[in-house]
Amino acid sequence: VDPALDLFAAIENLKKEKNAIVLAHYYQEPDIQDVADYIGDSLGLSQQAAKTDADIIVFAGVHFMAETAKILSPQKKVLLPDLKAGCSLADSAPPELFKKFRDKYPDHIVISYINCSAGIKALSDIICTSSNAEKIIESVPKDQPIIFAPDRNLGAYLIKKTGRDMVLWNGACMVHEIFSLEKITRLKMRHPKAKVIAHPECEPAVLAIADFIGSTTALLKFSTKDDAQEFIVVTETGILHQMQKDNPAKTFIPAPPNNACACNDCPHMKLNTLEKLYLCMEYEQPEITMEESLRIAAKKPIERMLEISA
Ligand code: 13P
Ligand code: SF4
Repeated sequence: VDPALDLFAAIENLKKEKNAIVLAHYYQEPDIQDVADYIGDSLGLSQQAAKTDADIIVFAGVHFMAETAKILSPQKKVLLPDLKAGCSLADSAPPELFKKFRDKYPDHIVISYINCSAGIKALSDIICTSSNAEKIIESVPKDQPIIFAPDRNLGAYLIKKTGRDMVLWNGACMVHEIFSLEKITRLKMRHPKAKVIAHPECEPAVLAIADFIGSTTALLKFSTKDDAQEFIVVTETGILHQMQKDNPAKTFIPAPPNNACACNDCPHMKLNTLEKLYLCMEYEQPEITMEESLRIAAKKPIERMLEISA
């Protein structure tokens, strides 16, 4: 790409020329968030993908998110700036192993977190995100046993919140696992008025000291409406961009990882760059494609989620 090219202007032109919409997750780099038509959490992004009338959906996020958009809008071209932008949590549940696990519990229904592959979605009864998981679990009759996959931390948190005894798949997110209780506690001692706000993908010990727990959208809303002036943010750092933009007078401190070599940036999310976003719009690739039978099987549990969360 010509270094003199104004990528922001070029992306705006391509949006108009191609009737394309850019959807971005809060964990994307700030430039990508600034050029997006919609920024949101996983639920908001899937709702946008289901209702847009654009011809092209450019998904600035990770593979399972773009795949969900394609499942919901098959007639649209769905582009992902870097096809290698995966997810450690989604990778922790290979469909063939998960099928064997599920078959051990024939009386259970499967609720899967949206951070999973289309193969796992096709083996699930209902999908949920971190913002609607409680509502989804509560929509299931109390005597109905449940398998929850793939995130064991979100699963353990939901067991505590709902009182439901769910069987958990043993997966986790590499970013939310690296936060250190000890370092957050020390940081909190230096900032006694700061509120600790955490994503439910964090480990139980970290969640136990949080003042508020929620999806990225819920954390952003909380940081805006709460009176506190300082927040220790225990999730991927990308969310700090909107927090700071919406609340210029407040202070947002990213929670520290457990060692100096660890990092609370998601290496998958951060594979996307503004330049790759421009190139994928210009050349209309890499494109998400999927076998139709898999798409139809994966669509059913996502539609159930969208109906319950409407
Ligand atoms: P939400 O934005 O839905 O809270 O999800 C967080 C996440 O880890 C996405 O990969
Ligand atoms: Fe996956 Fe975690 Fe990255 Fe989200 S932050 S995309 S759950 S690895």
